[in-house]
Amino acid sequence: MEHFIYGGDYNPDQWLDRPDILKEDVRLMKNAHMNEATLGVFAWAVEEPREGEYHLDWLEEIIDRLYENGISTILATPSGARPRWLAEKYPEVLRTLPDGTKAKFGGRHNHCFTSPVYRQKVYEIDRKLAEKFAGNPAVIGWHISNEFGGECYCPLCQEAFRQWLKKKYGTIEALNRAWWSTFWSHTYADFSEVEAPSPIGESATMGLDLDWKRFITDQTADFMKVEKKALKDGGAAQPMTINMMYDYDGLDYGRMAKDLDIISWDSYPEWGGPEGNEKPALGHGRCHDYMRSLKDQPFLLMESCPSSTNWQEVSRLKAPGLLTCASLHAIGHGADSVQYFQIRQSRGSSEKFHGALIDQTGRDDTRVYKEAAEVGRMLERISRAKGAVTRARAALVQDTQNRWAIADTQGPRNCGMGYLEFIQELYRALKKQGIDVDVIDQDHGYEPYDLIVLPMLYSVRNENDRRLKAFVENGGVLVGTYFTGVVDETDLCFEGDTPHGLTDVFGIRRLEIDGLYDGQKNTLTGNGKTYSCDRLCERIAPEGAETLLTYGEDFYAGESALTVHAFGKGKAYYLAAHADEALLSDLMRRAIFDAGIGPLVQDLPSGVEVQSRLKGDSTYLFFENFGTEEGKISLSKNESVLYGEQDGSIPPCHVLVVERKN
Ligand code: GAL
Repeated sequence: MEHFIYGGDYNPDQWLDRPDILKEDVRLMKNAHMNEATLGVFAWAVEEPREGEYHLDWLEEIIDRLYENGISTILATPSGARPRWLAEKYPEVLRTLPDGTKAKFGGRHNHCFTSPVYRQKVYEIDRKLAEKFAGNPAVIGWHISNEFGGECYCPLCQEAFRQWLKKKYGTIEALNRAWWSTFWSHTYADFSEVEAPSPIGESATMGLDLDWKRFITDQTADFMKVEKKALKDGGAAQPMTINMMYDYDGLDYGRMAKDLDIISWDSYPEWGGPEGNEKPALGHGRCHDYMRSLKDQPFLLMESCPSSTNWQEVSRLKAPGLLTCASLHAIGHGADSVQYFQIRQSRGSSEKFHGALIDQTGRDDTRVYKEAAEVGRMLERISRAKGAVTRARAALVQDTQNRWAIADTQGPRNCGMGYLEFIQELYRALKKQGIDVDVIDQDHGYEPYDLIVLPMLYSVRNENDRRLKAFVENGGVLVGTYFTGVVDETDLCFEGDTPHGLTDVFGIRRLEIDGLYDGQKNTLTGNGKTYSCDRLCERIAPEGAETLLTYGEDFYAGESALTVHAFGKGKAYYLAAHADEALLSDLMRRAIFDAGIGPLVQDLPSGVEVQSRLKGDSTYLFFENFGTEEGKISLSKNESVLYGEQDGSIPPCHVLVVERKN
């Protein structure tokens, strides 16, 4: 599509007895400047009301009518929620819980990913959909299932797990070694003895836990490939995607991304809380950057809410202007779409209070509808930025498998290691400097970057320490922190000095790590400044590194807490403790300076976030004011305003889009 995609989940299957409403919906979508609808996400029971009896003509009618009105379709496969007949006739499709209990029919996203019957039935309906719609010019993409997630512990899954392990390890001896299973006499004599982790069985073998999670990702991806095959066998050639979720750790999206044509995700920030809007914006900004970095290409914002959701703790209304800010925020971070859940609000069941373009009044003069229409106008105004790419020179490492390992390990702080929180704090410190940031996992390429920030890379796999070393040797700036380079991918501690493989890069050696109680603090001092730290404090011994800050208290007062070391053509900082905002901010500013990365604009006003995208000889700059004060951007001769105030001012809850000619 030439323009940004603007639309969202549309569930006409809930309104098939209301032709008047179906007709009115098209008018309202069109007037809101929409050009896309995502159809059929949960429509299986209407598409196949009885086994083998397919009803797809209603869908064709809707797809065609939308298309005649300039609205294309992203068509979903319906596997996210199955019809009742399927569960009644084939109970094996139901999920089994970790304690062995079989789930009943109900809810959604609760099927077994291994079940041959479920795979077969999904294949059949998907193929039918593709056979009917693959050649329809209205259909521009395929939305596979919905928010893949969850686990099943049935005998079929257990057996598939054993086969997966056999392939990975070859021999049971290799598995025993990788899982350190002689501990507590848990040695396996044969693969057939392996069971998934369970609260009533094995629950403290970290290697087992981690491999089970990897298996779940691979099994889900395998299921997804069955769906892809069905669509392709039915003739589909359009791009295929799955909708991912915010900070979801049930799947390693990094492993799934390679099997997708385009990344898409569902973003629902908790706006309007007591801490204001900057915090949720930065959280979702990081997730936008994570999603974009999965394939280093623009992504789709598959779902977002035009007003408030029904499922968050509290449903605050979006303040006027916030929908525009949130939408542009996604575009700025690399989205090529703004899509909502949903177009028309349901009348019943759990989502009847979930915000939608068209609420139950059916009116087009509601506050939400009017702002959504303005978002549509904005997207048209800035459409030349569609497809533009992000070229961040700084990367922050957020690694899902490492997150699993940190969450699962016992000690040094079982009440919370704060991995994601720390990543978020560092992300904030980076973004406050007005730069673009990629959020990558540890297997991502390092070559595009001048700065890599590497918080708590506890579990290092695939010898990535060697690539990090090469990165610094070749002139990169690396900021590493406490709890890095401790274990391998099955949670076996590295032998010898740590951070494993990086002691010469950082010029330090880890001695011990101290877990502090909640509320306990230490200080970090140096160069006339004092900062505070808490949570985790490492004792380190400099071996070549220069000490920048030392601990102020406790028996390790006076020992190094922040160091810097020149290595090859680059430099490596090592932060040994969980430091406060002031230190993270100073450290990121210094590292960005060392890496030679300039800000996107001078004097970014507080509360305003900036992102950039490049296309041809233009840089597009996107600004959103999530703060409470008006900000102003000074524009140069080669810059023009595409949307927003011509003088560069940005009141709270307003946006600005600038095109800079390079
Ligand atoms: C998403 C889901 C949608 C809808 C939405 C409500 O997680 O994919 O189907 O339920 O939440 O916010």
